Amino acid sequence: MTKEILLIVDDQPEILNTLNHLFRRKYTILTADSAKKALQLIKKKEPAVILSDQRMPETDGVTFLSEARKLWPDAIRILITGYADIEATIEAVNRANIYQYVAKPFEPNELLTIVNKAAERFRLLKQNTMLHDQLEEKNRQLKDENIKLHIQVEKQLEMGNLIGHSPGMLKVFSLIRKVADTPTTVLILGETGTGKELLAKMIHYNSNRKDKMFVVQNCGAVPDTLLQSELFGHEKGSFTGAIQNKKGLFEQADNGTIFLDEIGDTSPAFQLGLLRVLQEGEIRPLGAAQTRKVNARVIAATNKDLKKEVETGHFREDLYYRINVFPVHLPPLRERRGDIAELLKYFIDKFTQRINKSILGIDDEVIQILNQADFPGNIRELENEAERLVTLANPGDKITKELLSDRFNTTKTITIPVLQEQTDLKLAVELLEKK
Ligand SMILES: Nc1ncnc2c1ncn2[C@@H]1O[C@H](COP(=O)(O)OP(=O)(O)OP(=O)(O)O)[C@@H](O)[C@H]1O
Ligand SMILES: [Mg+2]
Repeated sequence: MTKEILLIVDDQPEILNTLNHLFRRKYTILTADSAKKALQLIKKKEPAVILSDQRMPETDGVTFLSEARKLWPDAIRILITGYADIEATIEAVNRANIYQYVAKPFEPNELLTIVNKAAERFRLLKQNTMLHDQLEEKNRQLKDENIKLHIQVEKQLEMGNLIGHSPGMLKVFSLIRKVADTPTTVLILGETGTGKELLAKMIHYNSNRKDKMFVVQNCGAVPDTLLQSELFGHEKGSFTGAIQNKKGLFEQADNGTIFLDEIGDTSPAFQLGLLRVLQEGEIRPLGAAQTRKVNARVIAATNKDLKKEVETGHFREDLYYRINVFPVHLPPLRERRGDIAELLKYFIDKFTQRINKSILGIDDEVIQILNQADFPGNIRELENEAERLVTLANPGDKITKELLSDRFNTTKTITIPVLQEQTDLKLAVELLEKK
């Protein structure tokens, strides 16, 4: 390790000499017999520690050290004073912001310890500044990345990316456009895989909350305490395993949006907490004495019939009315068959781009077969099928019906093209029977 630089300033050569001897093993020593010379050295050498006597003929120690401070504030300054220099000492602390003063006569060991501590302080401050700079740089990078990600997500989530031109979907879009930019609670209803989460994201990214957080919690199949702690947070020690305070998702989504999936599967205790948020706009973390204000827009979703859950006593009626302010029903895929071909093309494009495979297109037969399938898994099922088709397709070939999963190929849809080609019904029936 390189030695730290110590600048000693005193007008008496004997003292400079003695101190030089005392410190030269540990430090690179610079000496000056006047403030003027010392200031020149400081400019060039940037010492870690400056040790100055108060009594010098031209410029006194305090004046010198306050000049030194202006020139090179990083150095740690120490003043050596005589018994009668009390005033100078006070001034030194104020004007020159010295680290310590040492009264004469001093023990060499005592002075050594003080200088060592000063040098250590210099090192730590240097390190600190370095770490601080690094941290700032990292923060700046993270901020940049964050903005980039945000832009990406926003691009992906413009309304246009929610595919669908069927009457059912157009109705959904027009509802969403109206409600997106309001704080209104939205309840999304729909079977599994119909796009409830995607729609919730769309609402968030098309609202004035889009620069704040969008957080998601699946409320089904989560033990009650865990769910409450996830959403409302907890105080240290509020239950076994709560080793420190935790901020809940409602607070994280402050001024943003929280998406509560499978809201129909929650416990009465949780429902009560949720009612408090919706009514009073406040949460109480587990184990906390005080409630806290939050402003998170709530979007909830369920594939259950909430009204029925209320009737059977599984869902609080008061909460039902708070949640069911603006229901949006996402129709199952079998009720918007007009969207199947467009969705299929969209997913095929997505997957071919992802694995960088080029294909010649999709055989009409594939579209016809899928157009008539019932899709209990809805869009997610269609998406999975598209991924499979792209994986199996030979590069440069068309996607043909042979590549479809068995469950689509076993349907007897093969008869349909025959029917469609015939305008004469009698002939069509004959052909069909032959088949
Ligand atoms: N209209 C759409 N256009 C494009 N992709 C869609 C559309 N709807 C759904 N998807 C895609 O289908 C998949 C399933 O959607 P999502 O997860 O939103 O459904 P969900 O209703 O929340 O399902 P679950 O009830 O199982 O939680 C996702 O990959 C989503 O991106
Ligand atoms: Mg979902």
